[in-house]
Amino acid sequence: MREFINKMREEGLVVDVDEPVSADMQAPKMAAGTDKLIFFHNIERVRAVMNLTATRRALSIALGIEENQMVKTLADAKFDGNVITSGALAMKKPDLSSIPIMHHFPLDAGKYLTSGIVFSRFEGVENASIHRMLVLDKKRVAARLVEGRHTHVMLGKALAKKEKLPIAVTIGTHPAVTFASCTRVPTGMELNYAAELLGGEITVRQCSNGVLVPDAEIVLEGYIGGEVTDEGPFVDITGTYDPVRRQPVIEFTGMYVKPDFIYHGILPGGDEHKMLMGAPYEPKIYRAVAGVTEVRNVVLTKGGCGYLHAIIQIKKSTQGDAKNAIMAAFAAHTSLKHVVVVDEDIDPCDPNDVEYAIATRVSGDRDIMVITGVRGSSLDPCQLEDGTNVKVGVDATMVLGREDDFTRATW
Ligand SMILES: Cc1cc2nc3c(=O)[nH]c(=O)nc-3n(C[C@H](O)[C@H](O)[C@H](O)COP(=O)(O)O)c2cc1C
Repeated sequence: MREFINKMREEGLVVDVDEPVSADMQAPKMAAGTDKLIFFHNIERVRAVMNLTATRRALSIALGIEENQMVKTLADAKFDGNVITSGALAMKKPDLSSIPIMHHFPLDAGKYLTSGIVFSRFEGVENASIHRMLVLDKKRVAARLVEGRHTHVMLGKALAKKEKLPIAVTIGTHPAVTFASCTRVPTGMELNYAAELLGGEITVRQCSNGVLVPDAEIVLEGYIGGEVTDEGPFVDITGTYDPVRRQPVIEFTGMYVKPDFIYHGILPGGDEHKMLMGAPYEPKIYRAVAGVTEVRNVVLTKGGCGYLHAIIQIKKSTQGDAKNAIMAAFAAHTSLKHVVVVDEDIDPCDPNDVEYAIATRVSGDRDIMVITGVRGSSLDPCQLEDGTNVKVGVDATMVLGREDDFTRATW
């Protein structure tokens, strides 16, 4: 992570804050006011960063891929990097009060660890994904494990065998590792994907419970057992409060920190949260749409919380391509709610250009698909009581054969 921060500094994309800052809402509020990487040099007497990858530019620097080639390049991922194990990690007694875990919004249940990647290992398979964690005391947290996600599935398997699930939580990893952990990769391939993104290999170390972890500023090791407790409310990507649920407790048994460590906080509902939720899905949607038509780009927009709205740019060759693209996108990312398909001359990253396409290329009776009774995102406040939602696809492409009527004048 330090190497990446240096690169961002060379690009003039770091804001340094030298004065003392509180982890109790002050730092989160400051992070909300900029999309630059914000480096707190004295947050409760230690160091912390926020907005590590809050923009596409930052993500492209982290992954070493040109911004406009990112989705296309990532769509070709092989998930085949080398994971090299190098020794054990020395652990101390865990003490969560020694790291500046933040309280972000007034109605949050308490202090939340927001950038922790949970590495869990069971029957030889190791998974990695971010889960928010509510601090309960110096060595226990409540983790939100969305039903069906791999950590939740692995915990179910461990509990069925009357065992605890060994886990390790990393804070402050290279953002390529964070990105890999937020991507739906083939089972157990997150570290291989991280290695691929980092140029071919990654070195990991072993915790005392057998879990492998990459280089990180802070590592916490422990177990998830059968205990559950109240978790929430907590602000999620929509900026609204996610309700209280009974969620599993993690008990930490060991902790490692680098000398002069740098904590990483992700602002809930902030730009980095949206980027890390959405950008990993763009290559997946790209691959799905490529199966039905010629796709040029896929963007999950900031206005759509980085998760609910996709703009898909295609090169249309037969009438109906856009509607096939809409169906492919909804199948690839089940949380998607609204999809707009545009032509090659529309910039999918420019909301004005996309609105222009909707204004001049959409006939409401012909170009809008409404699909009811489908599963959507549990985070969408519009979700119906039975868990279903309504999805809308908009074909904002030109009518084939009538291109002259739609093409913008240029010099
Ligand atoms: C900042 C951030 C916070 C997240 N918080 C949670 C969470 O609390 N619970 C959860 O299940 N998924 C959360 N996610 C999403 C998962 O990390 C992500 O979907 C991951 O790819 C799931 O991994 P899996 O495919 O191994 O199940 C979060 C993602 C980000 C970027």
